[in-house]
Parts: sequence; structure tokens; C-alpha cells
Amino acid sequence: MGKLDRKVAIITGGASGIGECMVDLFAQEGAIVIAADINEAALERASQKTNVHGMKLNVASDEDWQALAKEVSERFGKIDILVNNAGISSEKPFAETDAQDWQKMLSINGFGPFAGMKHVAPYMAARNKGSIVNISSYTALIGQGFNPYSASKGAVRALSKAAATTFGRQGVRVNAIFPGIVETPMTQALSTSKDLLGRLIQATPLQRLGQAIDIAQAALFLASDDSSYITGSELVVDGGYSAQ
Ligand SMILES: NC(=O)c1ccc[n+]([C@@H]2O[C@H](COP(=O)([O-])OP(=O)(O)OC[C@H]3O[C@@H](n4cnc5c(N)ncnc54)[C@H](O)[C@@H]3O)[C@@H](O)[C@H]2O)c1
Repeated sequence: MGKLDRKVAIITGGASGIGECMVDLFAQEGAIVIAADINEAALERASQKTNVHGMKLNVASDEDWQALAKEVSERFGKIDILVNNAGISSEKPFAETDAQDWQKMLSINGFGPFAGMKHVAPYMAARNKGSIVNISSYTALIGQGFNPYSASKGAVRALSKAAATTFGRQGVRVNAIFPGIVETPMTQALSTSKDLLGRLIQATPLQRLGQAIDIAQAALFLASDDSSYITGSELVVDGGYSAQ
């Protein structure tokens, strides 16, 4: 028996990197998984997997969220799990970051999880049961120079705690995960510099970079009933990087 048997899970950003790994793991554990992503071409690949349904979603669109939550609930009868994982990053220096960059970052990384919870949590609350996992970042915990990105992930941190208190009495749990540097398409640029890669590994107490499965396993725990008394928590999965 899987840890998520017969549960219906929406995973945003499910077409790449950490999200794709979560989609595979959750499906292996018995869930019906909706891989929601803006990248339609990549979603076609996801849709070919057993128990996985690719659905187009721009997390920055309130209308998209409203439609997705309704469709999933009508088609599958319920929504048990939401993982707000979709996100973008930017390495633009502070001085070159303009208002448009800021708005884009905050609308995808900040408004996305807010709108997701706003439109999905009521379906969970109606059944008095649900688990929401928001993917923040270690950059919300320590200064790393990724200014708007860190700010957006700080928003996810605070929002997760606030939502845990908002939805707890309706049976809906909300927790956040703080990944360290994980090898995915988002961090591909790192692998082109052996020097930088070496320095990052050296600076990590567990002496390696994160893999998508490290984050997916943490999300599985928080999504499943194994964590039924946990809400408002912050799970750091970074090999000890931010503990220093
Ligand atoms: N990789 C890391 O080192 C790392 C570290 C900390 C936190 N994170 C966070 O983990 C999450 C996943 O990152 P990843 O490394 O797998 O990145 P990734 O770039 O491999 O995947 C991100 C996915 O999000 C989707 N996406 C982007 N904008 C979207 C939008 N507007 N609507 C819907 N989908 C959209 C992309 O199409 C892609 O499939 C992100 O929130 C990221 O900030 C990553």
C-alpha cells in the first residue's frame, strides 16, 4: 500500500526539476497526480505517465487557479494535496533589477502560492481535510544576494505560517519546505563552473548538493497522513548549509 493511496494531488511546476520528481514519487505512492505547469510541451510528457494528468496553469493567474481547482474537484471528486512548487529565479544584480523584474518575481513566486491556497483550500475545507506544501528556499533564511527571489521566498515563508493558522480549524494543514541548492534545470548554470560547484559542496556540511528526490521525499512526508499533527512547520532540506 502506498503512502498516498487514492489521494488527489495538485503539484505546480510539475513538468520539470523538483516538481517532476514529486509527480513521479506521489504517483508511485498511489496518488492521482495533476501536474500543473505553464510549459505545455513538457506537460505532454508528464501526461503519458500512469496516474498523472497534465494541466495547463499559469500560477500568476487568478482565473487559471479558479478554473483548475474547479475542474480537478469535478473530475476527480476531491482535492487532498496541493504542492505550490512552481517558481522562477533570477541572478540579476540589485542595481539592474527593475520594477518589472520585481513584479514578475513576486507574481509567480508570491501571488502563485497565495492564489493556489485561496482557490484550492475551500475544496479541502469542505471535506475538513487537506495538506498544502509550499516550496520556499534557503534564501528566505539567510542572505545570499538573490534579492527579489529571496523576498518572494520570504513571502512564501510568512504566508505559509499565516495560512496554517487560517485553515487549521478547517482541517487543512499548511507547511513549508526550504530547499538548499538542488541540481535541476533552474540551477544548471552552476554545473558549468566546476570551481563554483566545488566551493558550494565544500560549504555544505553534508558535502553534496541536493537532488530533487531529497525535496520530493520531504514533500511526501508533509503531504501524507504521516504528518497529520504537523502544521505551520518549516522543514529545511539543505544539507546543513543554512545552519552555519
Ligand atoms: N533548484 C534549487 O536549487 C532550488 C532551491 C530552493 C528552492 N527552489 C524552488 O523549488 C521550486 C522548483 O524549482 P526547480 O529547481 O525544480 O525549477 P525548474 O526551473 O526546474 O522548474 C520550475 C517549473 O515551474 C514552472 N513554472 C514557471 N513559471 C510558472 C508559472 N507562471 N506557472 C506555472 N508553472 C510555472 C516551469 O515551467 C517549470 O516546469 C521553485 O519554487 C524554486 O524556487 C529550488
